[in-house]
Amino acid sequence: MAEQLPRRTVLKLGAMGALSLAIEACRPEGVVEAAGVRTLRRPVDVDDAAWSAVRAQFMIDAGTAYMNNASLGMPPKPVVDAVAAGYVAISEEPVHGKHDLQSAIAERVMPRLGALFGVTASEISLTRNATEALHLQTLGARLRPGDQVIITTQEHPAGARPWQLRAAREGIRVVEVMIPSPLPPTPELVARMESAVGRETRAIAFCHVTRGGHLYPVAELCAMARRRGLLSFVDGAQAVGQFPINLRELGCDAYSASLHKWMLGPVGTGFLYVSESSRDRIVTTFDPEATVDMPQHGPPGTADFPVRAAIDTALDFVTTLGLDRIEARCRYLSDYLKRRLDELDDVELLSGRREQSAPGQTIFEKAGLNAASSVPLLEQIAASHVDEHQRDGHNAIRVSTHVYNTLAEIDRLVDALSRA
Ligand SMILES: Cc1ncc(COP(=O)(O)O)c(C=O)c1O
Repeated sequence: MAEQLPRRTVLKLGAMGALSLAIEACRPEGVVEAAGVRTLRRPVDVDDAAWSAVRAQFMIDAGTAYMNNASLGMPPKPVVDAVAAGYVAISEEPVHGKHDLQSAIAERVMPRLGALFGVTASEISLTRNATEALHLQTLGARLRPGDQVIITTQEHPAGARPWQLRAAREGIRVVEVMIPSPLPPTPELVARMESAVGRETRAIAFCHVTRGGHLYPVAELCAMARRRGLLSFVDGAQAVGQFPINLRELGCDAYSASLHKWMLGPVGTGFLYVSESSRDRIVTTFDPEATVDMPQHGPPGTADFPVRAAIDTALDFVTTLGLDRIEARCRYLSDYLKRRLDELDDVELLSGRREQSAPGQTIFEKAGLNAASSVPLLEQIAASHVDEHQRDGHNAIRVSTHVYNTLAEIDRLVDALSRA
């Protein structure tokens, strides 16, 4: 494949440090990863010093603290360069550029994604985001009018709306189970969901990690679903990239993910997983020729090849650091944030028990402070980006800290909050 590239294109791609498939075949051995990733090492410790080289890979303006990663992650420079290199390749040589990008996606991105999440490449379809994947999994479920689906009161609109569409169009019944925030203990949460199961129930759908950072007992809920003969659909938008995940071990039938949040992938990337054993019950919404062997769950048509191929570099980045180290670093930062918030008299933490909260998201209320107006205020007085979380009856602020944040940024935010 690489032999087909004109020498000029190959060299330019190599210089930009992207498109590792093309580079692998034509550059000297050992020079295969994107330039920035090549210098990365797995941090052994969790403190700021151990992660300063990682932080240096991000392009954010000095002085701005970005703590809204749960909304949209910041791709590191090697990922940005990889997207640019892909566009250069496809613009300078559209035929071979497209072919090479497609090969990189098929031969590297898909198998690596499958391997990272414990499943096969053929069980994964790339999407533009988690919302698209959530629509595909929901619209693809084989259900009949009158069939019932259980969701929770904590779904993101991206998870709830496709079910509501089916309810409006086809007469599917959607039952919302009230789940309190912070979460109740796991046995109670599972019992709440199970108590809603009736004769017509066919599926349950819930988040792995909610928008506010509540961490659901996915394996226990999926086991309950299997025992009751139900399909299980999981919204993994906020989970993928925060900690190691094995989709096979979780036991869900379908799982929807963003790659542009915690995975630090290029903007406009996500995936849908449909377990091979569930292909007869979750089918494509597009392709009349699909079969169980060729399920064709992904959206059809020309895709953003340069963006998708750059997922390879995000995978380099994240796997070099290690998802376990990312989890430990995120936990270190949010533990520190929680300790600092605890020092403020008028702040109530809402994230709940450690084992039921995601490593990187923290929610809290501050007496007398409207969460929505605190977002521009904190940007103004502390150059810090956070988000509101006015859901589940809360008037909360959400701070989502990723590996690139620092204790000094957290201190600045907490000091600003104490004055706000
Ligand atoms: C729980 C949850 N699900 C789904 C989404 C939608 O993700 P995306 O922006 O990738 O479509 C979000 C976005 O914030 C989310 O928090």
